Amino acid sequence: MCGVVGYIGSKEAAPILIDGLQRLEYRGYDSAGIAVLCGGKIESSKEVGRLVNLEKMLAIHPIKGTRGIGHTRWATHGAPSQINSHPHLSSDGSISVVHNGIIENYAELREELSTKGHKFISETDTEVVPHLIEQSLKEGAKSPVEAILRTLKRLRGAYALGILFRDEPDAIYCARKGSPLIIGLGEHENFIASDVPAIINRIKKAIYLNDGEVAVLRADSVEICTIEGVAVVPEIKEISFQAEAAECAGFETFMLKEIHEQPRILRAMLEKHVSADGKIDIGSSLSPDYFRKLNRIMIVSCGTAYHAGMYGKLLLENLTGIAVETDLASEFRYRDPKIDPGTLIIPVSQSGETADTLASIRMAKEWGCRICAICNVEGSSVVRESDAVFFTNCGPEIGVASTKAYTAQLMAFALFALYVAGVRGNLTPEQIKSYLTDLQEVPDAVHYVIQKKEEIRAIGEKHHDGPSSLYLGRKFNYPTALEGALKNKEISYQHAEGYAAGEMKHGPIALINEALPVICICTKTADEVYEKMLSNIKEVEARSGRIIAVATEGDTEIAKLAGDIIYVPAVRDEFTPIVNVVGLQLLAYYAARARGTDIDKPRNLAKSVTVE
Ligand code: G6P
Repeated sequence: MCGVVGYIGSKEAAPILIDGLQRLEYRGYDSAGIAVLCGGKIESSKEVGRLVNLEKMLAIHPIKGTRGIGHTRWATHGAPSQINSHPHLSSDGSISVVHNGIIENYAELREELSTKGHKFISETDTEVVPHLIEQSLKEGAKSPVEAILRTLKRLRGAYALGILFRDEPDAIYCARKGSPLIIGLGEHENFIASDVPAIINRIKKAIYLNDGEVAVLRADSVEICTIEGVAVVPEIKEISFQAEAAECAGFETFMLKEIHEQPRILRAMLEKHVSADGKIDIGSSLSPDYFRKLNRIMIVSCGTAYHAGMYGKLLLENLTGIAVETDLASEFRYRDPKIDPGTLIIPVSQSGETADTLASIRMAKEWGCRICAICNVEGSSVVRESDAVFFTNCGPEIGVASTKAYTAQLMAFALFALYVAGVRGNLTPEQIKSYLTDLQEVPDAVHYVIQKKEEIRAIGEKHHDGPSSLYLGRKFNYPTALEGALKNKEISYQHAEGYAAGEMKHGPIALINEALPVICICTKTADEVYEKMLSNIKEVEARSGRIIAVATEGDTEIAKLAGDIIYVPAVRDEFTPIVNVVGLQLLAYYAARARGTDIDKPRNLAKSVTVE
């Protein structure tokens, strides 16, 4: 949601800002703009819609200059329009601001500033920021930094800000609280960006700005201080992934590329966390003794990561005997869940910046809980606010619909649950070895499913055009049904509902007719789940539903019932979700392709939901 970039150096700023914004497109946006210091003036250009509109405008009216800020806006306060697009200016045109986040007290600030003569032209919350900075300078702030610090003290809410002063041509400024912002360090040039992929092609080192910090960037230096004005010595981090990780690499979309990356990522996770003699290392600073005494776990997350949390709950309950709950972070934070300090909180997040997940962490910390996150992005807020982190390490995920981050989250839960079960003695070392042997088969099984993409494409194309579809699964694959349905609605815009198959008779069965595709996850299991799923499929068949089954290779029984089958290799019951979901990712992908949607940037969606 909203992307921020900034540049100061000796090159033309506009193309660098546009390139950075293109790399942030995946975050979701509906308008874009830049401001560049040009011949002693701040020149801006803003357009509604895709970045290409802004590029066209800049081709007609170029803006020349070597320092600037840019923004992709995902509308919150005020519709997507040129006036509401960022950057926003102060009354005298001397200060320009881009912002990601929400200023909660903007209405009262706007009123106060209006009485002091400030004129507002947009409906945004952001516009108060340049006006407040201007007012602080009028009221005696002796430097831009002092004016920024005074302003920040007045703001309630979340922000990542990029600020340009007409009268300070040798610097750009930035600040953050609650929204992500990094500083990229180049040779005689420096950058700001919402995340590393925006500038990965230009930098090797970055500073992850902390909440409540303000930075002054010059071409050859970066100075940081706290909101209280106390100088900070920043930690400079080497960027651990290559620029190619954020490129499409010959695939038609990032999503397809990311689906294909899954076997490699899963293998790498196993190599990293499992030693040759079968010991699991989860890299956690929480001691084995902590896990031995643990009696309650609460998993909190949003979207796809919530489905990973549902799987985590099932697996942890199954293997460790610990009472585990899972909840949507957006619900959890408003509940009164009677959590005691002995409860371990596991936030799950690809981006590490989801506002509700972060709010849940903060709330749980106040209750004295320990936090052990499963997260993909180093330096993110979730990582920094947690006591321990299990990194999924799958590189930047650019496609808005999560794929590789999801299977990596499932793998993380599998390894975590086995580790905890081992430490607590719920499983013997031999049992753990047996699980690990089976887990090692998962990356190849995922690869096998990807190899069948042409068959899955045919199924996706055949069923893509109805108004709705139903996804059914049980036990470990109930979350898979929810995730399959979510993938479908996110990228193909077809209404899709995921349901626990056992609940079908309590409502969704009324929807079934010859037009409704019913996707049944029915891989063979050692327990009665497979038989129960077969019964559900028969019930769908009896009502002429269009059955698409995800089934185990060699299952002839299912061929008698299902019109279309996505065959997957047999893996241990507990690990089937990691394999089965890949079939559903591809099914949604090809349905969306047939429907002609913008797969990597589906309408209205944001990759990282940094506001409530
Ligand atoms: C958005 C994204 C989803 C993601 C969810 C949670 O809705 O589009 O792909 O699952 O946020 O994000 P997180 O970064 O916390 O995993």
